[in-house]
Amino acid sequence: MYEKRLIELALDARNRSYCPYSNFAVGAALLCQDGTIYTGCNIESSAYTPTICAERTAIFKAVSEGKREFICMAVAGGRTDADILPITTPCGVCRQVMMEFCNPQTFLIFCASSAENYKAYTLAQLLPKGFGPKNLGY
Ligand code: THU
Repeated sequence: MYEKRLIELALDARNRSYCPYSNFAVGAALLCQDGTIYTGCNIESSAYTPTICAERTAIFKAVSEGKREFICMAVAGGRTDADILPITTPCGVCRQVMMEFCNPQTFLIFCASSAENYKAYTLAQLLPKGFGPKNLGY
């Protein structure tokens, strides 16, 4: 099942997280309309605000390579010392960035504790009544 493959890739990306300040490591994997997958991890900064989440890393990697149509994303996060990962849902900023490129009714986010244990949400569920390009008439 493609969800499981995507979650495995998010878990693998999580291993590359740079999070010395929060010790909260997150990985993401984004499936594009054309079948390609972009992964991302959170990357922190000693100045704190430049920190970027795993989800946005994956989306920005994809957009910067010319991709703008996305089907779904897997996210896996938890403290670096955790034996069992909790279910981590994307932060508000990442939800807003998803709103820019994804159809909120159909874009699915798999929030995973493991490849076997995850919850699936549409973007509309995570960002109800969200503001997006359509609100500007695009
Ligand atoms: N983080 C993510 O990468 N994605 C989320 O969905 C939640 C938060 C990161 C940001 C920061 O590096 C650390 O997790 C703690 O907030």
